[in-house]
Amino acid sequence: MSRKILAANWKMNTTLAEATILANGVKEGVRHLTNVDVVIFPPFPWLVPVAEALQQHSTKHLAIGAQNLYWQESGAYTGEVSARMLKGIVDYVIIGHSERRKHFHEQDDEIDLKVKQAVAAGLTPILCIGEQKKPSAAVLARPADVTATHMKTILQSLEENVAGLTTANVKNLIVAYEPVWAIGSGVAATGIYANHVTGLIRNRLAKLFGAAGKQIPVLYGGSANADNAKEFLVQPEIDGLLVGGASLKIDAFVSMCKQAAE
Ligand code: PGA
Repeated sequence: MSRKILAANWKMNTTLAEATILANGVKEGVRHLTNVDVVIFPPFPWLVPVAEALQQHSTKHLAIGAQNLYWQESGAYTGEVSARMLKGIVDYVIIGHSERRKHFHEQDDEIDLKVKQAVAAGLTPILCIGEQKKPSAAVLARPADVTATHMKTILQSLEENVAGLTTANVKNLIVAYEPVWAIGSGVAATGIYANHVTGLIRNRLAKLFGAAGKQIPVLYGGSANADNAKEFLVQPEIDGLLVGGASLKIDAFVSMCKQAAE
């Protein structure tokens, strides 16, 4: 896939005023970039105001998404937000982020239901998977040596999280490979290691869903920033980046989008 995807996960950050400035800054910065799809994921309460800010001078390749959803359509689920509520406001939704797995104890089977619900509602889920344990320096330098046991934790989650999809609707999925040890740590994976694991993820998707599985974009995420973005973006298996911390800085994130568009 030559067209890259740059996703900005703002997490639980920004006031409304900050979110508006950030959204407008990104919009301005990526306006002329046609060769990259940019998606920003503000916190829930800012989805509508940010969507409205982006609609003025709308830019086709700049979209918004939610950071989570609940898999039921409606009902007595205090504090939750359904796919049906999000449809019409956002096009994308992050599902199964490691912070949700860790702090909110989301399990693989629940994430499967969320992915299925997102796709059924016509949203594009970005499903996050990745291992907890940092591989050795030797493996990061020579990723072909990665063990089957190490890969199993990643691929098992993947299989369970996409169990509700079929070859017919899997084309709406995006996967983000996010090694948990790299998220927010300031220590990214190496480009060659991320490329290798991404390739193995793609092989598994192809095994599960055939040709449609091979086409699913797979992003890298984990301490990606303006200085290391290129190391990942040049890798043949990596279709883009899911960015946390660096996406809160207009200049850094726009620079990453520009590098992706080159
Ligand atoms: P980070 O976060 O870029 O701050 O490591 C990435 C993510 O959590 O998606």
